[in-house]
Amino acid sequence: MVDTMHQTLRRVDALLGPGDLSQHIDIVRLRDGRSMTLRFIEPDDAIVLQDYFRGLSVTSRYNRFLAAVGELPPSELEKTLHSGGNSFSILATLKCGGVDAIIGEARYAFDPVAARFEFGLSIDDHLQGQGIGTVLLSNLQCRAMALGASTIFGDTLRSNDAMQALARKAGYTFAALPSDWRLVRFEKSLDPAMELPCAGWRAHGREMTVAAN
Ligand SMILES: CC(C)(COP(=O)(O)OP(=O)(O)OC[C@H]1O[C@@H](n2cnc3c(N)ncnc32)[C@H](O)[C@@H]1OP(=O)(O)O)[C@@H](O)C(=O)NCCC(=O)NCCS
Repeated sequence: MVDTMHQTLRRVDALLGPGDLSQHIDIVRLRDGRSMTLRFIEPDDAIVLQDYFRGLSVTSRYNRFLAAVGELPPSELEKTLHSGGNSFSILATLKCGGVDAIIGEARYAFDPVAARFEFGLSIDDHLQGQGIGTVLLSNLQCRAMALGASTIFGDTLRSNDAMQALARKAGYTFAALPSDWRLVRFEKSLDPAMELPCAGWRAHGREMTVAAN
């Protein structure tokens, strides 16, 4: 058990060492053929990130943060800007007129002892309902599997139909959260034998498996 834990921790360090984060960029194809870039958030992103959150509708912000906030509170902003340890934040961007526009974001945390991967995400209101959340969720699953997670999960408001529909379509099951009646947990088991659908993370996973043996 301890060996497994140490192996997993080595795997996290090797996969996502703080110095390497800017090197992990995914380019993923959207339903309409456009390419979305996924990259780790960096400290320089503070202003654009807060602009993105301020630009979300009141409902989307409430759904994302489970509270009425106008933007990320300072302590949350600090954490979001500094991925590392086992918590990571990513931005989804699209090229618009030569400029990278932020169209979504996600945060995730990996618990190497329990092999559980928790996430939250949002998509710009103007682009919701176009399959972008589905693509981002699939990418998060790749990251979870590359880290060795056996479970991926998130918590959302019972009233959040869009998130629940997205999770249901992706094969998640649902359970009540006794600690908070407003919330429902969506969760999915990950099979380590399953082939990772994202090429980049598949390669990382293979490299790390070889290194750990
Ligand atoms: C939840 C969210 C991420 C979904 O992203 P999205 O890009 O709109 O999702 P998709 O377009 O990939 O939709 C996936 C499926 O969910 C369903 N769906 C999407 N929006 C829906 C809505 N408002 N009501 C019901 N079902 C909906 C559809 O069945 C869709 O499948 P289809 O494309 O085959 O029709 C997005 O609505 C969002 O950012 N909401 C605000 C923040 C939030 O709620 N975050 C979740 C907190 S964990």
